[in-house]
Amino acid sequence: MTTAEIKEMASKYIVNTYGERPISLARGEGAYVWDAEGKKYLDLVAGIATINVGHCNARVVDALIAQARQLIHVSNLYYIEPQAKLAKRLVELSFADKCFFCNSGAEANEAAIKVARKYTKDKITKDKYEIITMFKSFHGRTMTTITATGQEKYHKGFEPMAPGFKYVPFNDLKALEDAVTDKTCAVMVEPIQAEGGINMPDDDYLIKLRKLCDDKNLLLIFDEVQTAMGRLGTLFGYESYGVEPDIMTMAKALGGGVPIGCMATKDHIAESLSPGTHASTFGGNPLVCSAALASLNYIVDENLPDNALKVGGYVMDKLKELMGKYPVIKEVRGKGLLIGMELKVEGKGFVMECMKEGLILNCIGSRIIRIAPPLIISEKHVDEALPIMEKNLANL
Ligand SMILES: Cc1ncc(COP(=O)(O)O)c(C=O)c1O
Repeated sequence: MTTAEIKEMASKYIVNTYGERPISLARGEGAYVWDAEGKKYLDLVAGIATINVGHCNARVVDALIAQARQLIHVSNLYYIEPQAKLAKRLVELSFADKCFFCNSGAEANEAAIKVARKYTKDKITKDKYEIITMFKSFHGRTMTTITATGQEKYHKGFEPMAPGFKYVPFNDLKALEDAVTDKTCAVMVEPIQAEGGINMPDDDYLIKLRKLCDDKNLLLIFDEVQTAMGRLGTLFGYESYGVEPDIMTMAKALGGGVPIGCMATKDHIAESLSPGTHASTFGGNPLVCSAALASLNYIVDENLPDNALKVGGYVMDKLKELMGKYPVIKEVRGKGLLIGMELKVEGKGFVMECMKEGLILNCIGSRIIRIAPPLIISEKHVDEALPIMEKNLANL
């Protein structure tokens, strides 16, 4: 089908939550994708920080095919070998002792919120339920996770919001301390606020936040939906900041492209999600867990976190050079291969022009260009992207 035909069909039959889109992507390989007409693009968005191992990674594809031939889905009424193996690997590689699998980042955060409240009621006091999150955060689109999301634009029209959430500015420990009451049970934060604009934590913010949570007996939840799986230069984002959370959520890149989410935590907290308290039909099914295990092993075997650090450093250097040349760039910030280039003008036109020349970027808010490519990219890919970006910056 042509893009025009797909667009006509999609407009007629799909709820219009995503608005009009410029292209339809039909095929992918490594860092490249092709549209319905066969035009090739360098993809620096990677399904929004999701295809860390590259499009159609051979090891993920092989795992999917083998598992699809053997067993695609069974209920969690039965043990599932790939699910147990994935959990074991995640536990071996992280601070966590136990995993709960679901299907998305929002669901992983729902599980985190539920376990934080249940653990607090079971083991601390029945009266605490409030969770403090940050302004400009993003935690998902279910009713509870839009409530957790500290951005009013996601709440509008969906009120009343879920009770039990409070917001404070990111990087403001005093505001957080002031917001804690005898009802507070947890703090939930992204190590780097991604959808909110690639907002970086101050150097010691997360360390001090950990201490504050310890002092006040609060659980610390890291939403690592966008930062885990090597993107920041360490397998999990928390490792980049030398801080361990009590609960961590993952999704996006966990599956190598298939939908999976995970809430990981310590044994004493996980105990509170006892049989019957939480569940998911598809969560951790054989197919997605096989793909996720292949993807995770690929990330570790190929040392993609190191590559993210190396190539991310190169991208930052080059973008800072461009900033020296083009005052339309306000700031360049990020870590590893999660990078934001803030413009002084609207960024959507810039993204469209780059796309016409075969480069896929993404604009968050109205002025921040997000670069979150597959972690397999090399300097060569960056050198391919830069002239296209430079030409279109010059035209702004
Ligand atoms: C930090 C963070 N948390 C949660 C989510 C929601 O994930 P999902 O869209 O898989 O529900 C996202 C999605 O962008 C995210 O970036």
